[in-house]
Amino acid sequence: MSWIREGELTLLERFCANIIKAGPMPKHIAFIMDGNRRYAQKCQVERQEGHSQGFDKLAETLRWCLNLGIREVTVYAFSIENFKRSKNEVDGLMELARQKFTRLMEEQCFLNVCFAYTSRHEISNAVKEMAWGVEQGLLDSSDVSESLLDKCLYTNNSPNPDILIRTSGEVRLSDFLLWQTSHSCLVFQPILWPEYSFWNLCEAILQFQVNHSMLQKARDSYVEERKRQQLESDQAAVTEQLLREGCGSSRDSQLRRILLHKRSSGREERVQGFLQALERKREEWLARLGTASS
Ligand code: FPP
Ligand code: MG
Repeated sequence: MSWIREGELTLLERFCANIIKAGPMPKHIAFIMDGNRRYAQKCQVERQEGHSQGFDKLAETLRWCLNLGIREVTVYAFSIENFKRSKNEVDGLMELARQKFTRLMEEQCFLNVCFAYTSRHEISNAVKEMAWGVEQGLLDSSDVSESLLDKCLYTNNSPNPDILIRTSGEVRLSDFLLWQTSHSCLVFQPILWPEYSFWNLCEAILQFQVNHSMLQKARDSYVEERKRQQLESDQAAVTEQLLREGCGSSRDSQLRRILLHKRSSGREERVQGFLQALERKREEWLARLGTASS
């Protein structure tokens, strides 16, 4: 029996879901599921029980998302900082992850789990990967750009989250998806994660809908600005090339167009080659990790 898919929405929930779905809907939501231990304390149960109920809440939330047509969810399950917690708690969380991950894999669902993750580590790793590409001669240093960095992140196969939700009243991002959420709707809710409800999720989506046109505008102008910067730098490089080749005064716009095209297709080819090499490098690293831990 599927453990995410089981259970339907109530009649009232379905009714409200249909109203919400008439507006612009998020395609991807990220959660910082915070407040498990405060919940455990409040209910006078063991910490581990708080985390376990937190996990059950995740399964329930995925079901709501599925019902609302939200195709992708990313959760912050364990940050690198969390290793500083007591050995007992870390061991408990690892055990919970071991048990639940197997089940999650069986579900073949739309969930990205960030485990032993911090965003700054992810970003600096992406920068190192690009430096490696330049060192190996796969990339030119002029190929290094924000778009290429996007492609080197662990999230390169996902669209950026439309909404980032943090529960428990904390109003920090705690090093989670810093790069990916610059145009996301950030929603901080006071509820503790194990108490999260369908209505809390609807409230977050409503906030997204109210701000949707502003967010979309900001995203579009960022994309435009990126394109403009790339074109400007390509044009400057072409002018430099013409100067080097003694045709600095050339007003031949067709020659300029040809050189511009050559430059961008050359970059595209290098970037593709680099990304394939990077994928192979990551696969080899994962295989070595698998051998070392077996
Ligand atoms: C934050 O609450 C929660 C965590 C650090 C762990 C989150 C893990 C789960 C919900 C279950 C495991 C999930 C998977 C996908 C295996 P907190 O411990 O910081 O509580 P507090 O803020 O009240 O101290
Ligand atoms: Mg916390």
